[in-house]
Amino acid sequence: MYRVAIFGSGSGTNAQNILKYFEESEVARVHLVLTNKRSAGIIDRARLYGVPVVVFDRDQMESGTVLERLESHKIDFVVLAGFLWKLPVDIVQRFENKILNIHPALLPDYGGEGMYGMNVHRAVVENEEEETGITIHYVTEEYDEGEVVFQDSVEIDPDDTAEEVAGKVQELEHRHFPSVIEWVLTDLGSDE
Ligand code: GAR
Repeated sequence: MYRVAIFGSGSGTNAQNILKYFEESEVARVHLVLTNKRSAGIIDRARLYGVPVVVFDRDQMESGTVLERLESHKIDFVVLAGFLWKLPVDIVQRFENKILNIHPALLPDYGGEGMYGMNVHRAVVENEEEETGITIHYVTEEYDEGEVVFQDSVEIDPDDTAEEVAGKVQELEHRHFPSVIEWVLTDLGSDE
C-alpha cells in the first residue's frame, strides 16, 4: 500500500478529490498534506479527512526539514495538486519518478514559471485558443518539464471567459487525476 503525500498552495479541490478517492483504496492512502500557505483552503479539506497537515516556509523547504517530514511519515509517493513553488533538489532526487504534478493546460504550451492557475486560463483566452486541457506529468528539477503521463483536452467556445475555461479545466482535473495516480501506482507496483 503506497503512502501518499499531497503538496498544495491553494483551495485544495484536487487534494480533497484525491483524499476521497483513496479513502478506501487498496492501492494507496493519503497520509500527509503539506502547504506553504497558512491560509490555504487545502488545510481544512485535509482535516475533514483526518490527515495531518504540515505548514512550512521556504527555509524549512530548502534546509531539508520538509524532506525529513516526508521520511518520518514514511511517504513513498508525492502528488503536487496546485503547489506553486518549485520543489528543492533533495526532494526531487529522493522521489525520482515518484512525484506527479497536474498542470491546467496542454504542456508544453502555457507552462513554465508564472504559469499557474488563472494566469494560464487568462493567457489561453487572450490568445483565442480553440482548446485547452490538463497535463499530468512527472516532476523534475525544472518547472513543467517531466515526462507526460496523461493529457485530456476540452473545447473553448469563442465567448468563454477565463473563469469559464477554468471551470471546464477543473472538471477534467477532478475527473482524471485520482485514477491516473492510481494507474501510475499500480504500474510502479508491478515494476518493483
Ligand atoms: C489546479 O487547477 C492546478 O492544475 C493548478 O492549480 C489549481 C489548484 O486548484 N496548478 C498549477 O497551475 C500548477 N502550475 P485546487 O487547489 O482547487 O486543487
